[in-house]
Amino acid sequence: MKNIFEARINALYNLIEHHAKLYYDNDAPEISDFEYDALVNELKELEKNHPELARKDFLTHNVGGTASELFAKVNHDTPMLSLDNVFKPDELRNFFARIDSDKNFTCEMKIDGLAVSLIYEDGIFVRGATRGNGHVGEDVSANLALVEGVPKKLKDAPAGKIEVRGEVLMTLERFRAVNEIREERGENPFANPRNAAAGTLRQSEKNNHVISERGLDIFLYYLVDAEKLGITRQSDALQWLEAHGLPVQKAWAFCENLDDVENFISQWQTERDKLNYITDGVVIKLDDLTQWPEIGATSHAPRWAVAYKYPPEEAKTKVIKIEISVGRTGVLTPVAVLEPVRLGGTQVQRAGLHNADYISKLGIKIGDVVKVRKAAEIIPEVIEVDKSARTGKEEIFTMPERCPACGSEIIKIPGEVALRCPNRASCPAQLKESLKYFASRDGMNIKGMGGRLSANLVDAGKVKNLSDIYKLKYEDWITLDKVRDKTANFIMAELEKSKSRPFVNLLTALGIPDVGKNAAGLLAGHFGNIDAIKNAAEEEIASIEGIGPVIAGSVREFFRNEENINLIENFRAIGLQMGGEAKNKITENKFDGKIFVFTGTLSSMTREEAGEKVKTLGGKVSGSISRKTDFLVAGDKTGSKLIKAETLGIKILSEQEFLEMIL
Ligand code: IVH
Repeated sequence: MKNIFEARINALYNLIEHHAKLYYDNDAPEISDFEYDALVNELKELEKNHPELARKDFLTHNVGGTASELFAKVNHDTPMLSLDNVFKPDELRNFFARIDSDKNFTCEMKIDGLAVSLIYEDGIFVRGATRGNGHVGEDVSANLALVEGVPKKLKDAPAGKIEVRGEVLMTLERFRAVNEIREERGENPFANPRNAAAGTLRQSEKNNHVISERGLDIFLYYLVDAEKLGITRQSDALQWLEAHGLPVQKAWAFCENLDDVENFISQWQTERDKLNYITDGVVIKLDDLTQWPEIGATSHAPRWAVAYKYPPEEAKTKVIKIEISVGRTGVLTPVAVLEPVRLGGTQVQRAGLHNADYISKLGIKIGDVVKVRKAAEIIPEVIEVDKSARTGKEEIFTMPERCPACGSEIIKIPGEVALRCPNRASCPAQLKESLKYFASRDGMNIKGMGGRLSANLVDAGKVKNLSDIYKLKYEDWITLDKVRDKTANFIMAELEKSKSRPFVNLLTALGIPDVGKNAAGLLAGHFGNIDAIKNAAEEEIASIEGIGPVIAGSVREFFRNEENINLIENFRAIGLQMGGEAKNKITENKFDGKIFVFTGTLSSMTREEAGEKVKTLGGKVSGSISRKTDFLVAGDKTGSKLIKAETLGIKILSEQEFLEMIL
């Protein structure tokens, strides 16, 4: 018996490690938080029953996952506390009664982002940290320097050390744009703007260019060193912050008394829908901050402030049916189709049900009246069944035994919560998703080939496997729904262009489960071409730094399948790049490992071409500036990289100077 448990626990360690890395380090989760939690819970349960098999040092035993290894730790001199929440008007009155309701207060919106501390010395930004556990946080200075709104220098530089605190966030507009791009690229969208902000800020140095690309904002709300500056009121502190160039949200007010506070709360209950960032309540603070130390704090929250939380938006509606969507790798996801209901300003008609475990845990039946919740911008979720509303006509839902798209028998892979359609080769639902992924930016980057066109091609029977898209003629394209002459020519030109995309793009585009852009880069770098990967032993693949047994297993599995081998041979015949990423590509070692960073637009070549040139001359290219950078090549319209390079004293080259170097 022990062996079964041991094998399962080890499988869970591998899986969890793999998914934690994708989530924290690569910022590209492939399973939902719910599925991840299910793996962790299963592990915890097994560990409890078989303590002798438990790995005490495993990441699930530490708070904060693997991310803490990424950053240096910093101590917060003043702990970063959280806030006590109140949910009802009388709870709020209790808070006032404790303090004295005749006092003045400030009301600010409670921003749903992640708390950070910024330290300025003589007006210069010197350190930024996350909250961590409140006492020890992570040093994310370099990353915070890339956040728009974090000034490198304060206006009227105040002398000495000043600490300010606030919330890093992603605006709704950017959140939608980021997710759109992620979906186009076949990546998992972020669940909500807070996740997106946290995932974006907590980047390794190598990846921190995504901060400027996606765009983060910050609002400050706490001037820790107010008294040192002679400031005695929170409302003055907010004005001080603003006056020194630190962004403060507009949604705050000085309140003379309890009535004013209650008005603020009710006014913003609806107004908050108009803000371009997510708020989940109102923070009420005693305005006279000289009294704060005396009033004090509990171990986790101050007594001079409280958060009034708005109720999450919920509504009751009926489950009309439960549909199954089949993803790129064949995973079946149940979705509730609902009687339309208004929630958080939009009509909701569908809600995610995650997987079969979730449905049985909540006991959802077709025809049930359910409560749906839309917290933040999250896709609505069914959270509860109103069993008292049952009529007896509700029907039990069971996951299908056959794939709704192709009829193949569904399988449950040991070690996974999900059910899968195993028909990778010809299931139309998988093919649509695979095609979209194949054409995505990290894949073959075929512009114009999004989800709609991919589905269209499969439905029209034009494409039976991925390589078929290269065989389509003008007549095939033009006869598709909504495709006109211009689009047909554009896509055909794009397809032609894609033939010369680097091998790593093809390797990503193949959609080998668990092999995203990063893993593909590592495999291409190590093996150099597709045949070497195809013939490699699983142990050799697993021995590559950054590739674990899960990916290695998945790669072997992929190349064991004859359909996949045929597909690759088709691609070879079409002329796609089957190799050429090995390290031996260096033609001349002029740059000898020197690290180049590019910023702005170059006029004589694309950044990609410039990067390729650097690599063939033995140099390296990085997406972001660090102390290790040797050169920053600055084209037109440069951004924050230039400022950072200047501060770090890195050699800055004009395009002309760079061209002279590569001659
Ligand atoms: S004041 C000691 N003001 O809410 C408390 N916090 O649940 C100082 N938050 O950790 C915090 N908006 O990250 C304050 N306007 C606001 C806020 C705010 C969001 C966050 C903050 C804090 C958490 C507590």
